[in-house]
Formats: sequence, C-alpha cells, structure tokens
Amino acid sequence: MDKNIVVAIDGYSSCGKSTLAKALAKKLHFIYIDSGAMYRAVTLYFLRNNIDLKDSAQVAAALKNVHLNFHSRDYQTHILLNDEEVSDEIRLMPVSENVSNVAALHDVRIEMVRQQQRMGKSKNIIMDGRDIGTVVFPHAQVKLFMTADPNVRAQRRYKEVILKEPHITLEEVFESLAHRDYQDTTRAESPLIRAHEAIILDNTNLTPEEQLAFAASKVEPFLK
Ligand code: DC
Repeated sequence: MDKNIVVAIDGYSSCGKSTLAKALAKKLHFIYIDSGAMYRAVTLYFLRNNIDLKDSAQVAAALKNVHLNFHSRDYQTHILLNDEEVSDEIRLMPVSENVSNVAALHDVRIEMVRQQQRMGKSKNIIMDGRDIGTVVFPHAQVKLFMTADPNVRAQRRYKEVILKEPHITLEEVFESLAHRDYQDTTRAESPLIRAHEAIILDNTNLTPEEQLAFAASKVEPFLK
C-alpha cells in the first residue's frame, strides 16, 4: 500500500527537473506529475479559444471548461485536455511563449493547485514545478530545489531546441531562459522561491545517474 509520500521538486527552467523526476518515479515506482504540463495545457486552451487574459470573468468561465487528465504508461507525460492528447502541442513555441503569463493568473493557480493536491491524495507521487514545496505540498516529506549554472542550462536547452528550430542561437536561448527566470521569480502569485527546508541540488557538474542516486537517497528512508 502506498504511504502517501510526496516528493516535491522545484527549480528554474531547464534544470533537468523532469528528467530527474521521471527517473526517480521509475526507480521507486511512484506516480510522476508534471505540473508545468498542466499550466501549458491551460495555455493551449486559452490560445485556441482566444481568451483575454485581462478579462478575469472570461478567464474564470474558461477554466470551468478545462478538464485535465494524465495517463502515464511509461513515466512519460501524457496529458489530456478535454480528452484530447496534447502532450506534443504544449511543447511548441506558441504555448511556451504565453505560458508564463497564464501561470501568473490568480484564478489559474487556484484551480491548478486544487487539482494537484487532489492528485497527491493517498498516493506516492513526485511532482515537479515552481511552487510544489512551497504552496501545493508544504508538508511534502522530501523537497528538492534544483539549480545549475545559467550557461550550462542554456547549452543544454540549446541542444534540444536547435533540433526543432535550426536558426536559433545560443544567445537567444540564454536570453529566453533569463527572461523566464525573471518572470518566475518576480511574479506576485506564488513566485519561484526555495522552501527553506528544501535540499539544494546544483547539477552543473552532476551526471543524471549521480542526481538520481542523490535524490533516491533522500526518499528511501521514508519507504522503510
Ligand atoms: O516546467 P515548464 O517549463 O513546463 O513550466 C511551464 C511554465 O509554467 C513556466 O513558465 C513556469 C510555470 N509553472 C508554474 O508557474 N508553476 C508550476 N508549478 C509549474 C510551472
């Protein structure tokens, strides 16, 4: 039986949070929930339906029509928006460019946090995001806060992005990450901050295997 252990992983964009979270979920047989995918799916719905983010009544009404579900076969994120699989579409530029504005809205955050807390009931889960250890699960047994040198993060992200957008430069990727960091850490609603009890994991010079071993060593005592 699950003990309802919650592992909260927060940190900056492109720090490898989801890579670590998936590997850890696989190793420990936990459920992995990518909270960023939820904000992305809401953003997709808002874009498709031309929701005016400044019109709070419109935002509130639209949110009532957004039904999100995850199905996880292989520890990859498969997210359904009103029963439609949107896992690939939420990673494309239109969503990436608009998601931080949507994620800054109070009503959106209230609704997402409500759904995230429901998903964490009576299960062993790993959730990654920006406010998981501070707002969503302040009582999580394990909280990790991931960070890495901004140049290293930009290099990693560049290697992924160049495959889909061959004209992009490393400088552009660096700037876009810096912009997202700024937005995520300075917004009024649930800014990205480290919960004071969160364990810092700086992975600038760590391999994925080293990160996994470190994170697993923090969770395993709770499984005994
Ligand atoms: O982790 P990601 O890049 O897929 O997140 C997409 C956006 O959603 C990013 O701008 C930060 C925001 N986000 C958030 O505000 N709170 C979360 N718990 C997860 C993501």
